[in-house]
Amino acid sequence: MTEISNETRFLHAIEIGLGAWQWGDRVVWGYGQTHTDKELRELFDASLNLGVRFIDTAEIYGSGYSERLLGKFIKETEQPVLVATKFFPWPWRFTKGFLPRALKGSLERLGLDSVDLYQIHWSSVTMTPETMMEGMVECIKRGLTRTVGVSNFGEKRMIRAYSTLAQHGIPLASNQVHYSLLSREVEKNGTLARCKELGIRLIAYSPLEKGLLTGKYSTANPPPGVRGSQYAELLKKLPPVIKLLTDIGHDHENKTVSQVALNWLICKGALPIPGAKNLKQAENNAGGAGWRLTEKEVTRLDEATDNIREYSKS
Ligand SMILES: NC(=O)c1ccc[n+]([C@@H]2O[C@H](COP(=O)([O-])OP(=O)(O)OC[C@H]3O[C@@H](n4cnc5c(N)ncnc54)[C@H](OP(=O)(O)O)[C@@H]3O)[C@@H](O)[C@H]2O)c1
Repeated sequence: MTEISNETRFLHAIEIGLGAWQWGDRVVWGYGQTHTDKELRELFDASLNLGVRFIDTAEIYGSGYSERLLGKFIKETEQPVLVATKFFPWPWRFTKGFLPRALKGSLERLGLDSVDLYQIHWSSVTMTPETMMEGMVECIKRGLTRTVGVSNFGEKRMIRAYSTLAQHGIPLASNQVHYSLLSREVEKNGTLARCKELGIRLIAYSPLEKGLLTGKYSTANPPPGVRGSQYAELLKKLPPVIKLLTDIGHDHENKTVSQVALNWLICKGALPIPGAKNLKQAENNAGGAGWRLTEKEVTRLDEATDNIREYSKS
């Protein structure tokens, strides 16, 4: 395993974070109906009080509103917050200059001089990983971000990003990917192993599979909106997984289904960033860290979910 660089060490010390896609997003998350700024403020404060201070946002979340709201909350708290945001590679953004320009826009919305982690949200057909990373080098040189990451990058593109940054003596800090008990592609296609080998922090998004791994949804009570159809098939296979999560939770002083699901990711060496809509959910999720499942329990959960989806090898 590559030694973890000093610049990125802080990321490896974080056990759990908070996702901020729900902050302003109406289409998937029903912002304004299921939750408002009031609930978001409460859950922000509660998370900080429970030691969760790594917050993941993006310029496209709520069309910039997530960053604006986070900036407002940060201004109103005395507590330190670690901010990660993302560059969206729209097809018309095809030169490296777009990166520092977009980051300046994010910083303005956040009311900050720099962020702790700047990530590329997705791969692009109009910008190579090399060009993207040259743009990231500019962001680092101008002091706009402390570290650099990617998101939704497969192993090959991740290595291209890693190598380009290495030429400038800059480490690739992280790769943010979809990873949960119900979505284990990164284990099967080698991305997780490669991250560990290269000292890249794997950040797990949708770690509760958008609410499925909380135990509250079933075929009789599917999640609302687009999630209902997205997960119609997976919901049928869910009951034995929820039962196992519940049983294991009982053996750990009644940890909840969500807490066990998040802890499984921590045991795998990932950094989960669950999203939340209210104080209760955020408090519950914060309790996913600070303890450990046994190796045997991790194996039982592995076996219960091994064949829940088909995964392609990259
Ligand atoms: N890089 C990317 O492309 C990408 C993609 C997706 C997400 N992300 C990031 O990852 C973060 C997390 O992923 P996610 O938001 O997609 O999904 P998630 O964390 O798996 O699920 C979040 C949702 O689950 C429900 N929930 C959460 N905690 C709960 C609890 N303790 N009890 C009951 N219900 C609970 C809430 O929705 P309901 O109450 O409506 O069920 C909440 O909005 C995002 O906020 C974002 O920052 C990044």
